[in-house]
Amino acid sequence: MKLKYRHPKDVRMAKVLIGKASEIGEGKMTHVTAGGKEILVANVEGSYYATGNVCTHVGAELHEGELNGKELTCPWHGSKWDITTGSMTWFPQKLRDIGKYKVTVENGTLYVEV
Ligand code: FES
Repeated sequence: MKLKYRHPKDVRMAKVLIGKASEIGEGKMTHVTAGGKEILVANVEGSYYATGNVCTHVGAELHEGELNGKELTCPWHGSKWDITTGSMTWFPQKLRDIGKYKVTVENGTLYVEV
C-alpha cells in the first residue's frame, strides 16, 4: 500500500457555515468567530466577501463601521479598507492588511474558508 505524503504545512482549510445569504442584504455586513478568527462578511452589490473583523490600527471591530460600496470605514479613527481585498486604502500611517477569506454560496447558504 502506498501512503500519500503530506507535508506538515499542508493544513486543510475548514469550511465554516455563516448562514443564509438572503439574510445579508446588499450593503450589509455580519460577523462571526470561526477557527479562532474574527471574520467580517459583507454583501457588495450582490457578491459576498469575507475579511478580518479587527482593525490593525488598535483593534476596533470593523463590522461596526460604515460600508459604502466596497469601501469600509473603521468606526474608531476612520481608516478605510477595500472589503474585496482586505487591503487598507487610506490612513495617515501604513497598517497591516486585515486579511481576506474565501466565501462560497451553496444552495443559498454562505460558507467561509478559514
Ligand atoms: S482602530 Fe481602526 S483606525 Fe484606529
